[in-house]
Amino acid sequence: MEVAIKPVHALRGDVQVPGDKSISHRAVMLGALAEGETVIDNFLFGEDCLSTIRVVQSLGVNVHIEKDRVVVRGGGLNALREPDDVLDAGNSGTTMRLMAGILAGCPFFSVLTGDASLRRRPMQRVMQPLAAMGAGIMARSGNSYAPMAITGGDIRAITYKSPVASAQVKSAVLLAGLFADGPTTVIEPARTRDHTERLLSYFGARVEVKDKQISVWGRPNLPGRKVVVPGDISSAVFLLVAGAAMPGSDLLVRNVGINPTRAGALNVLIKMGAVLDIANERLVSGEPVADIRVLGGRLTGTQISGDIIPYLIDELPALAVAAAMAEGETVVRDAAELRYKETDRITAVVKLLGEMGADITEREDGFVIHGGRPLQGAECDSFGDHRMAMAAAVAGLKARGITRIKEAECVKISFPAFFDTLNSISVQ
Ligand code: S3P
Repeated sequence: MEVAIKPVHALRGDVQVPGDKSISHRAVMLGALAEGETVIDNFLFGEDCLSTIRVVQSLGVNVHIEKDRVVVRGGGLNALREPDDVLDAGNSGTTMRLMAGILAGCPFFSVLTGDASLRRRPMQRVMQPLAAMGAGIMARSGNSYAPMAITGGDIRAITYKSPVASAQVKSAVLLAGLFADGPTTVIEPARTRDHTERLLSYFGARVEVKDKQISVWGRPNLPGRKVVVPGDISSAVFLLVAGAAMPGSDLLVRNVGINPTRAGALNVLIKMGAVLDIANERLVSGEPVADIRVLGGRLTGTQISGDIIPYLIDELPALAVAAAMAEGETVVRDAAELRYKETDRITAVVKLLGEMGADITEREDGFVIHGGRPLQGAECDSFGDHRMAMAAAVAGLKARGITRIKEAECVKISFPAFFDTLNSISVQ
C-alpha cells in the first residue's frame, strides 16, 4: 500500500496512542507463566504483539481476546507444552528473543522463526548466554540467524555481563532465570528499558536492581494479575515531533508511558526547544504515565550520544526528522545498534532525509544533520519498517509537495491507526 502525505499547517487535537509494544509483549508472556487469569487492558493489537499471542497459544496457553482486552489463563512455569510446529515471530525481535529465554527453561524442543527482516537480525546475543545457562540452542549460519532451535530445561542460574546494551538480551536471560534455582543476574554496559524488571515485580517475583546489575530469583509463584498497558511513547513521539516543529500546533497526547528508561526523546526534544507540558503523572501497573501537551515552535540542533541512547533508540528516526526541521547541527553518536533493527535505520534515515533534501551525512554509529533546509516531497521507501514509514510521514507534513510512502501498511506493526490519527489532527 502506498500512502500520500500532503503538507499541513499545524496539528491540533486531543488523542491517545495505542498501548506500549514492549509492555504488551511482556504482559502476555508473564501472564502465560503465571497461575490463573491475567487480564490485559489497552493491549497493543499490532502485528508484533499478535505474533506473541500466537506463539504463546502454540505452547498450549489459553489466550483470548474479549472485546478490547486480552485474557491469558496461565498454568504456572511448568505448564507450557511442546509445540507441534515451528513458532513464527513474524517481524518481532522482542517475540523471538524473549521467547527464546522462556523456551530455554522448558523441557522440550521448539523452533523459532520469523519474516525475512527478522531472519537477518542477530540472535547470537541471546543464544550465547542461554547456552551458558544450559539450554541446547542452535541457529542458521553458524548460530547467527533464525530459525533457531531450542531444547530447554535444566537451566542453571548465572551472572551474565552483557557486552551489548539490549533490553531484549537482558530480558531473555532474566526470563530463563525464572526456571533456575537461585538468583540470575545480568550486568548491563548501559541501562536499558526496565519493563521486564517492573512487570516481574508487579507479578510478585523477587527482583533486585543495583544500578546496571539486575537479579531475579528463580521458581517464583506468580499469580495472574490485571495489567493496564500505558500508551506507547515510541508511537507518541512521531506526533510530538510533528507538533513541536510546526508553529501553531497545540496537541494533547493522553496516557503516554514516561518510564525514564524509555523517555529519553522527551529530554532531547526539550533540549531542542520543544514546548512540552508533561502533566497528570501517575503510576499504572508499575509504570509511570502522563498526558503530554505540545505547542508548536522552533527547534534547534543538539547532540545525542552516550548512555541516553538506549533510552531513545527506537525514537531516533523521529528525532532525525526533528533535527532536519531544526536550525543548526545535530550529531547522533554511539547508536550503531540502530543498524540491527527492523532495517538498518542509520542507512534508512540517511536515505530518506537525503532524498527529501536534508543535509545529512552517515557515520558508522549515527549521523550528522545540518537542519533548516526546506524538505521536498519524495517517493520514500519504508523498507517495510514501521518506524521508517512514520518518520517519512512526519517529514512529509512539513515538506513542499506530496510525499509518497511505499509499503506504508507496515505501520500496523506498532500503530495500526497512525494515518487516521494523523488525518484527525491535521490542520490544512
Ligand atoms: C525492545 C528493546 C529494544 C528496542 C525494541 C524493543 C524490548 O531492542 O529497540 O524495539 O521490548 O525489549 P534491543 O534490546 O535490541 O535494544
